[in-house]
Amino acid sequence: MAGKKEQHVDPWTAEAAEGESSIDYNKLIEQFGSQRITDDLLDRIEKCTGKPLHSFLRRGVFFSHRELGLILDAYEKKQPFYLYTGRGPSSESMHLGHLIPFLFTKYLQDAFNVPLVIQLTDDEKFLWKDLKAEETHRLAYENAKDIIACGFDMNKTFIFSDIDYISSCTAFYYNIIKIQKCVTFSQARGIFGFQESDNIGKIAFPAIQAAPSFSNSFPHIFGEKTDIMCLIPCAIDQDPYFRMTRDAAPRLNYPKPALLHSIFFPALQGPKSKMSASDPNSSIFLTDTDEEIATKVNKYAFSGGRDTLEEHRKFGGDTKVDVSYQYLSFFLDDTEKLEKIKKDYESGTMLTGELKKELIVVLQKLVSDHRKRREAVTDEIVKQYMSPRPMNFD
Ligand code: TRP
Repeated sequence: MAGKKEQHVDPWTAEAAEGESSIDYNKLIEQFGSQRITDDLLDRIEKCTGKPLHSFLRRGVFFSHRELGLILDAYEKKQPFYLYTGRGPSSESMHLGHLIPFLFTKYLQDAFNVPLVIQLTDDEKFLWKDLKAEETHRLAYENAKDIIACGFDMNKTFIFSDIDYISSCTAFYYNIIKIQKCVTFSQARGIFGFQESDNIGKIAFPAIQAAPSFSNSFPHIFGEKTDIMCLIPCAIDQDPYFRMTRDAAPRLNYPKPALLHSIFFPALQGPKSKMSASDPNSSIFLTDTDEEIATKVNKYAFSGGRDTLEEHRKFGGDTKVDVSYQYLSFFLDDTEKLEKIKKDYESGTMLTGELKKELIVVLQKLVSDHRKRREAVTDEIVKQYMSPRPMNFD
């Protein structure tokens, strides 16, 4: 008997199992072999940093990890570590979903006070998309502005375009070819599902995303040290890259990077689809005006409300499928207010229109604050973040 098609998640696809409307994240943890973030671990993070937990941790937006405990062990012993995250610059303007890993990384950098490297994979987007290399390189610089606007500490943050950094840093390229040599085509095909018809740049690329996990890829920050531990916050679809990295690490005598995984940010149309920059109506962009935000939420945000007012008052709305509620659970800081909204919506006291109104206010503020901060990011500031320079690292 043919089994039902299982869910499939890799860096390019997120497909729910046949007949299911959303990704089963517990199952994904099993499939990938990662660990759930337990309450004990959350307590440890809070104690270790002496700072309140980010709502993304309290609310399970970041829900899975690999060896986070080792990072906390090291931190408690005053041993250093660094953060690594990234973005593929495939579009001019970023959307709300793109902001999640950066907002979270900003919290981690503040809470642990550690160096951060941010990889802009302009090479990856050239290889995968129908874009000119010069264009993805330009988009890397545009996206850097949005990333800088998240408020990273200039003295502890290095942002780089792969195209630039490969050609200027020998140590980075050494690591890339060392990683390439210890992964076979058949392993890469097993992890990423490459086809014979794929261009060979794609097959070589995973080593480039792996290399920043090793501290000696950044001689201006870590000198020749190879043993500084690395923690990577990312959406769970990036995990295949780092499974490969973690397999390669011991063979190169490097520590394996630790990981923190987030769930996906749903499209306005609902959790079946992921927010996509190529469908303007599926996403709220960081460049959207107040009016555009209001229209998109009112028109497209999938509602868990009932068909008629009478039914809604009687049975209440379903927050599990309601996109406006889900967005609020990502972006409304005030937990008491969020809980009240949940209670009122589920009991039918609050209507979909009222819920959407709450969300619109939150998003308009988030996006306009971001826009103001982005406007203040000059080319000169971008240049500073993107220049390899020493950091007081101890
Ligand atoms: N491949 C990622 C993307 O397409 C970008 C990326 C590079 C990344 N290095 C990373 C994401 C490390 C998270 C962590 O968006």
